[in-house]
Amino acid sequence: MLLSSALCAQLPEVSSRSTTAGPSGPKICCLGAGYVGGPTCAVIAFKCPDVQVTIVDLNADRIAAWNSDSLPIFEPGLDEIVKARRGKNLFFSADVDKGILEADLIFVSVNTPTKKTGVGAGFAADLAYVEAATRRIARVATSSKIVIEKSTVPCRTAESMRAILEANSSGDIRFDILSNPEFLAEGTAISDLMHPDRVLIGSLQTAEGRKAQLALADVYAGWVPREKIITMGLWSSELSKLAANALLAQRISSVNALSAICEATGADVDEVAYACGLDSRIGPKFLKASVGFGGSCFQKDILNLVYLSESLHLPEVAEYWRQVVSLNEYQKLRFSELVIRRLFNTITHKHIAVFGFAFKKNTGDTRESPAITLVKHFIQEQAFVHIYDPKVEQSQIEADLTHPDVGTLHQYKNYVTIHTCPYDASKAVDAIVVMTEWDEFQQLDYQRVYKNMNKPAFIFDGRLILDAKKLRGIGFQVEVIGRQA
Ligand code: UDX
Ligand code: ADP
Repeated sequence: MLLSSALCAQLPEVSSRSTTAGPSGPKICCLGAGYVGGPTCAVIAFKCPDVQVTIVDLNADRIAAWNSDSLPIFEPGLDEIVKARRGKNLFFSADVDKGILEADLIFVSVNTPTKKTGVGAGFAADLAYVEAATRRIARVATSSKIVIEKSTVPCRTAESMRAILEANSSGDIRFDILSNPEFLAEGTAISDLMHPDRVLIGSLQTAEGRKAQLALADVYAGWVPREKIITMGLWSSELSKLAANALLAQRISSVNALSAICEATGADVDEVAYACGLDSRIGPKFLKASVGFGGSCFQKDILNLVYLSESLHLPEVAEYWRQVVSLNEYQKLRFSELVIRRLFNTITHKHIAVFGFAFKKNTGDTRESPAITLVKHFIQEQAFVHIYDPKVEQSQIEADLTHPDVGTLHQYKNYVTIHTCPYDASKAVDAIVVMTEWDEFQQLDYQRVYKNMNKPAFIFDGRLILDAKKLRGIGFQVEVIGRQA
């Protein structure tokens, strides 16, 4: 059977480990059916039909959605994979204890948000969910387990998990802890999981640790070449995940810092990034200037690194990484101020269309999306904001904009309208602000858009995706990040 999406159509349905009987290999349980646990374990089930994979979650509604025709996460290629294996060797369940009891390997893939209160508030990861999941494994398990940290956690979290598991287990049950950080990016998760640059497995450097490492490596070897499965110590593995995200985010902040210089000098940031990216030591990826990075990982992981550095009495190191986040905030503020400045220094009671609310294209995820910050600014200036995003649900936009720090729902309702069509969203507005790089924004009929807008009609391209020359030809006033007007 070939899968419908182009992505999956190129791939065999299952790996060479195919079996005609039911699953006979190891049993995997994943605690947490979120953006990481769901796609990761669905791909394991897809690629290893002899492995039984059960994804459990405390949130019964989320599990019900995973068992329905409308999955709780939008990710290209995910539907096909889930539908191909669900009920065969891939199961979604709210029975967390049963999942733990039956499993040989348990992925801990629960949320690790930034702490909101208490020690380390605003920086440290909140490990309450990881700890609760670990305690539950210790309480429920009646046989030995390999417990795998999948959530991004601060360095040495595995040590705490081990202490909890050991203190709560009886003599004949053994727990081995592995760190197996996830490097998938949303929007390309399935292809990232199918063709990873590397799979990283950290363990204690003991005979038992290495045996556990091998057991997990054997699962990945169902489709990943062995030379791409890297093993190392636990702490290196944990830190590598934070480091990779920090380095990627740092590149974006670097190019965004250059975008400000470009706007002031007449250089073009796309040209500068292109010229730099051709140097094989630099490389072309993650050099696209933007209104700022978003997503659940970059900011959280860098703040985590800042907190770690401060805890280790390394203030200069902490300051270095903090600057990556500060620059990101500056970039969002700069863009917001540009909109106000160009609209004759006031947007009060003007109408602004916001194209895109997700933190990047091909996902419905809005966590830390720059659009949230910008729309909040616009509401504070009492502008009427018309939001269109092809994938983000209205309820999610409402939840993001009615968060306690924005004000009351009443205020929000006065200023925000959510649309299901970009042409409706841009009707009779003074400006369009492109926040997410959805492909469809490049294909719109901008003659039609222009006709229906107030004049002068402004477009602010926060993603450098539109044909500015063509738009100017139509009559738009165009502003692009990293280019002089
Ligand atoms: C990131 C890491 O890439 C991934 O390896 C890790 O496992 C999780 O965190 P993700 O946040 O899903 O993945 O998306 P990513 O593609 O990294 O984009 C993050 C943000 O940076 C988005 O807002 C994106 O629009 C922005 N970005 C990315 C840029 O502004 N410019 C770029 O050149 C690349
Ligand atoms: P991520 O992007 O890291 O996958 P999500 O917030 O999308 O984060 O998903 C994490 C999931 O973990 C949530 O659906 C949450 O309900 C679930 N979860 C949290 N604690 C537990 C637990 N102890 N057992 C099972 N699931 C849990």
